[in-house]
Amino acid sequence: MADDPNRAVPRHMAIVMDGNGRWAKKRFMPRFFGHKAGMDTVLRVVDLCAERGVEYLTVFAFSSENWKRPADEVSGLMSLVLVGVAKYLQRLADAGVRIRVIGDRETIPDKLKAAWDQAESSTANNSRITLTVAFNYGGRWDMVQACRRAMNDGLKPEQVDEKTFDRYTALAYAPEVDLFIRTGGEVRISNFLLWQIAYAELVFTDCLWPDFGAQQIDEAIASFAKRDRRFGGIRETSPAAAAVDS
Ligand code: IPE
Ligand code: IPE
Ligand code: MG
Repeated sequence: MADDPNRAVPRHMAIVMDGNGRWAKKRFMPRFFGHKAGMDTVLRVVDLCAERGVEYLTVFAFSSENWKRPADEVSGLMSLVLVGVAKYLQRLADAGVRIRVIGDRETIPDKLKAAWDQAESSTANNSRITLTVAFNYGGRWDMVQACRRAMNDGLKPEQVDEKTFDRYTALAYAPEVDLFIRTGGEVRISNFLLWQIAYAELVFTDCLWPDFGAQQIDEAIASFAKRDRRFGGIRETSPAAAAVDS
C-alpha cells in the first residue's frame, strides 16, 4: 500500500511553519521568544507525525528571502539552530529520526554548516521518519541549482526530462509531497517547495506555529483522507469503495 495515492495518511508532509512572530507579539514578547517556542513545536510535531505513520516531514525554517529581516532576528535564528542541534540532536537520533537539510549551504556561516553536517551524518542510518529542514531554501533556488548541476554533469537537452530533472532537485531522495500545510493564516507558498508540490493537497490553518500540535495534525490528516486525488485522471470508484476493494 506504500504507493497508494489515496492512502489515508500522507507519506510526505511539508509544512510552512509560520506565525512565530505574531505568537510572541500576542504575549508582548520579542519575536525571538516565538522562534524559540517554534523550535519546541518542531520536536513535538516530528514525533506526532512519526506516530501517525508519516514517513517524510519537510519543514520550512528559513527562506532565501528571510535575509531581508533585521540583522538581529537573522542572527537570532542562526544561533537558535546551533543551540537546537546541541540540545536536541541526541534526542532526535535516539527517537529514530533521520535528519536532512536542504537549501543553499554556501552562504550560511561555517558554524551552522558544521552543525547541519553533524545532524545529517549522525542520523544517517535512522529510518523511523525523515525530517528535512529547509534552511536558506527557496523553491526557485532549488530549480536553478538543479539546472546548474545537470549542466555541470554535461547533460544534453534531450536527456533532460521530468524524471531526470527531479533527480537533481534537493528532495530527490523523498517521494512526492502528499500534504502541504501552512500555519499562521497566510494563503501563499512564499517560495517553499514549488516543483515538488505539483499535486500536493493543500491545507491552510490560522493556527500560529507554536500552537500547532496533535489536534491540528489530526484535522489536516482527516481533511487529506477525504480528498479524491485524481492527478489529472478520473476516478470511477469513490475512495471509500476503493478502500473496500483493496
Ligand atoms: C515563521 O514565523 C518563522 C520564520 C520565518 C523563521 P514568522 O517569523 O514569519 O512569524 P510571523 O509571520 O511574523 O508571525
Ligand atoms: C515563510 O514565512 C518562510 C518560513 C516559514 C521559513 P514568511 O513569514 O517568511 O513568509 P511571508 O513573508 O509572509 O510570505
Ligand atoms: Mg511569517
